[in-house]
Amino acid sequence: MTNWSPQSWRNYPSAQQPNWPDELALEHTLKQLSTFPPLVFAEEARSLTHALGLASKGEAFLLQAGDCSESFEEFSADAIRDKLKVILQMAILLTYSAGVPVIKVGRIAGQFAKPRSSDTETVNGIKLAAFRGHMVNDDAPTIDARRPDPNRLLLGYHQSAATLNLLRAFTKGGFADLSKIHVWNQEFVASSKEGQRYEIIAQEIQRALKFMRACGINLSSEKDLQQVDFWTSHEALLLGYEEALTRKDSLSGDFYDCSAHLLWVGERTRSLEGAHMEFLSGISNPIAVKLSATASPDEVLAICEKLNPNKVEGRLSLITRMGSTKITDSLPAIVRAVKKAGHPVVWVCDPMHGNTFKSENGIKTRHLNDILTEIKGFFQVHKQEGTIPGGVHIELTGDNVTECLGGAEEIFENDLGLRYTSTCDPRLNAKQSLDLAFNVAEFLRNP
Ligand code: PEP
Ligand code: CO
Repeated sequence: MTNWSPQSWRNYPSAQQPNWPDELALEHTLKQLSTFPPLVFAEEARSLTHALGLASKGEAFLLQAGDCSESFEEFSADAIRDKLKVILQMAILLTYSAGVPVIKVGRIAGQFAKPRSSDTETVNGIKLAAFRGHMVNDDAPTIDARRPDPNRLLLGYHQSAATLNLLRAFTKGGFADLSKIHVWNQEFVASSKEGQRYEIIAQEIQRALKFMRACGINLSSEKDLQQVDFWTSHEALLLGYEEALTRKDSLSGDFYDCSAHLLWVGERTRSLEGAHMEFLSGISNPIAVKLSATASPDEVLAICEKLNPNKVEGRLSLITRMGSTKITDSLPAIVRAVKKAGHPVVWVCDPMHGNTFKSENGIKTRHLNDILTEIKGFFQVHKQEGTIPGGVHIELTGDNVTECLGGAEEIFENDLGLRYTSTCDPRLNAKQSLDLAFNVAEFLRNP
């Protein structure tokens, strides 16, 4: 750690970096970014660490959710609002059913860069560079569109700033007020089975509020009923960008990556000798690491030692994404090792990334049943090992997309082409997301 600096990752091999055609242009852009204002404040990151510390002890639950990859094209107030709506709905269901505070973290306001399993893909017989997220290149299947362009880093920064600004306005300015609980239920959701089930709970909550008012409690003076904390997160993949937004906090003297409150390292970049782990080890934000079923207990222990040697509660979340058929076999040994070593991690279940497959017509999808099976396995393992299931990590959108199969109003393989707008992985739509929240609430209530 003594040799750590925001630049020290440059001395290590960094996986999954774009082939920028002009290194000088890239460095020029990064220099410019390093003079821009930070997007978040270090004190906020410390508050989130504190909240996650509660999640590591079962006194709170993390809901981390949003796009697989944010889009420059789908950038609008409506899209941000509708994503926030579904996350607020899920959070209220979890809070009401499980009786614990829900920490709301978006994969939003910076989730623009993607790791890929292959550097290239062939579309209509043309070999193209892989799409790496809108902060790198465009998803259109042409050679020109796929050329990495550093100017996109600036566009990504500005879109993140505008998105975060609107999120702050919504969550602090009245939209997240509990009295708006019905407004969060979008029309197409309200008419569905999941939406109606949500309405029943929303009515119960409103009745409880009315009861409190009748008892003489002045609810309008309760800030916690009118505002929520909403945090941002993304994968720390483009290390030049993250470096440029890393600043020394004048209060603590520590370095914070001010591009988001929480940063994570993905399954493909978590090598202990790699640049991404080096970078994460020195920033003081709360951080997370994705773990597939191939992670070994020793490897995970080494990750904990490297990223959280002082065993700070809330500092490190481990996001397991093992797949519905593997989690009950692969997770126990890891959980046991971490528990024995006394590392206070937040155990988080990402039931999305281990359950992706291609449908018969060649479309990348996931089935809600597999997603729910992985969540069930996650709760089962933690119950059996005496550890705390601390949260879930979901790819979703507020829109009525047809990207994942299943759900109460079932989406079939033939429906996938109807409204598939994700530029990367398939997301749950708002109804499927509520369905998932009801299931998680049940596991939290009756583990
Ligand atoms: C992701 O979260 O979109 C992702 C690529 O995940 P993972 O690193 O777990 O594959
Ligand atoms: Co994804």
